[in-house]
Amino acid sequence: MSFNHRLSYRLLFLLVLSFETARRLASGDPNDEACLTNLRQNLQDPANNLHNWTKPIFSNPCSGFTSYLPGATCNNGRIYKLSLTNLSLRGSISPFLSNCTNLQSLDLSSNQISGEIPPELQLLVNLAVLNLSSNRLSGQISPQLALCAYLNVIDLHDNQLSGQIPQQFGILSRLSAFDVSNNKLSGQIPASLAVRRFNSSSFIGNKKLFGYPLEEMKNRGLSVMAIVGIGLGSGIVSLVISFTGVCIWLRITEKRMEEEEGKISHSMPNY
Ligand SMILES: *[C@@H]1O[C@H](CO)[C@@H](O)[C@H](O)[C@H]1NC(C)=O
Ligand SMILES: *[C@@H]1O[C@H](CO)[C@@H](O)[C@H](O)[C@H]1NC(C)=O
Ligand SMILES: *[C@@H]1O[C@H](CO)[C@@H](O)[C@H](O)[C@H]1NC(C)=O
Ligand SMILES: *[C@@H]1O[C@H](CO)[C@@H](O)[C@H](O)[C@H]1NC(C)=O
Ligand SMILES: *[C@@H]1O[C@H](CO)[C@@H](O)[C@H](O)[C@H]1NC(C)=O
Repeated sequence: MSFNHRLSYRLLFLLVLSFETARRLASGDPNDEACLTNLRQNLQDPANNLHNWTKPIFSNPCSGFTSYLPGATCNNGRIYKLSLTNLSLRGSISPFLSNCTNLQSLDLSSNQISGEIPPELQLLVNLAVLNLSSNRLSGQISPQLALCAYLNVIDLHDNQLSGQIPQQFGILSRLSAFDVSNNKLSGQIPASLAVRRFNSSSFIGNKKLFGYPLEEMKNRGLSVMAIVGIGLGSGIVSLVISFTGVCIWLRITEKRMEEEEGKISHSMPNY
């Protein structure tokens, strides 16, 4: 291949590439569009803080390098950061959020959002920051979230989440901030999380959560149960023992009486 040929191939390649980029910038990414449309649809906005979040913008949220959507940040034509905090938002988190596949940071903290954390968020493989703190989220924390291997920050404090802290979170080697305080979580704190850098302030305010680094509240609860158990148990055991004793005593006296009777009948002369 001659030098000229190679040059023209290279030019052609660059041309195609720039067309592709231009096309993407002009029309937007269909996944981001689905993500934002559904995210907006599932949120209620009584304070009208999202008045700029309207349909025409969704079709091209990242024209240029910034987004016209307040709270959304773009990188290379894709949404990569969503930050909608303290906006009095209600409603729920759309599972379609997982269509924002380039998302690295999701911060919906300090609103009144309810419902579950969609397990579909596991598809956000680039997610590094998940801050859903100070909302009204309920249900369980999906163990599948551990598939977001780049997670640095999981902040879910001040919600109504229940169930256990997934053991799987132990594999998140980059985790540097973790806070699930003030929820309704229960069970043992995964040792893999506790032994790492997180102290009790990450876990407090969950009545049924126990294990290091929390004080062993469960033991105190257990000992009360144990005392009741021992009391009840020993009562039953002593009842059984005394009942058996009475039975044995009755058997013995019955036998003795039979024997006496036998002796008497033996000692009686037969006529
Ligand atoms: C969005 O996500 C859903 C389910 O995860 C998928 O079926 C769909 O193809 C994605 N893209 C769009 C544009 O809806
Ligand atoms: C919303 O859009 C209007 C123009 O339509 C603009 O003037 C305003 O600054 C935007 N608000 C925010 C919070 O970005
Ligand atoms: C949240 O918003 C309210 C009113 O919009 C404001 O008064 C308050 O200071 C904000 N809180 C934080 C922590 O930004
Ligand atoms: C999460 O958001 C809250 C409220 O906006 C903030 O105070 C907190 O520091 C954030 N968490 C992390 C780990 O950055
Ligand atoms: C827990 O660790 C954080 C830093 O990660 C620190 O600010 C806080 O004071 C610690 N709390 C306790 C109770 O040790």
